[in-house]
Amino acid sequence: MNLRPAAEADLDALSQVHRRAFTPGWGPEEIADLASGPGAFGLLVEDGAPLGMILCRALAGEAEVLTLAVDPDARRRGVARALVAAAAMTARSAGAQAMFLEVAVDNHPALALYEAHGFVRAGRRPSYYDRGGGIYVDAVVMRLDLGDGSL
Ligand SMILES: CC(C)(COP(=O)(O)OP(=O)(O)OC[C@H]1O[C@@H](n2cnc3c(N)ncnc32)[C@H](O)[C@@H]1OP(=O)(O)O)[C@@H](O)C(=O)NCCC(=O)NCCS
Repeated sequence: MNLRPAAEADLDALSQVHRRAFTPGWGPEEIADLASGPGAFGLLVEDGAPLGMILCRALAGEAEVLTLAVDPDARRRGVARALVAAAAMTARSAGAQAMFLEVAVDNHPALALYEAHGFVRAGRRPSYYDRGGGIYVDAVVMRLDLGDGSL
């Protein structure tokens, strides 16, 4: 299993993983849009084929997880744990003192992952996700303390 920074040449691989994990998932153009924003960075895990990806932004002392996806056939093998740890390290190196994310209140695997990593619940956004058919789900805002940047 190889974890490395994602580059422009990886857009198709990033999209492939995202589309395996989410319906409908993001295409290469949507990912390129986000990845070209200020402070954005992506990480990719592969093992012959792409298995997992994370896209984040670290800006003005704060970082945000924009998306995290692991191929359904590669789950519960520590791929997401490795991606979150590497993203937190990258964000800290970029000067971020905290990392934030939003996760659906019914996404139990992701909530368990983030809580195991040390994220704490910092708020709630009512009806944040539109699931279609008039169904809306709250988001939990989570925060990870990255320290003050000292060694
Ligand atoms: C959430 C997701 C990224 C987890 O990826 P993963 O590679 O399977 O996670 P890991 O194997 O690194 O799991 C690390 C820890 O997270 C928790 N966890 C992960 N999946 C879990 C599940 N299905 N049920 C309970 N806990 C889970 C466990 O604490 C796990 O440690 P353990 O396996 O030693 O018990 C993956 O399920 C996914 O892509 N889901 C769809 C997309 C998504 O929801 N993304 C996050 C949006 S905010």
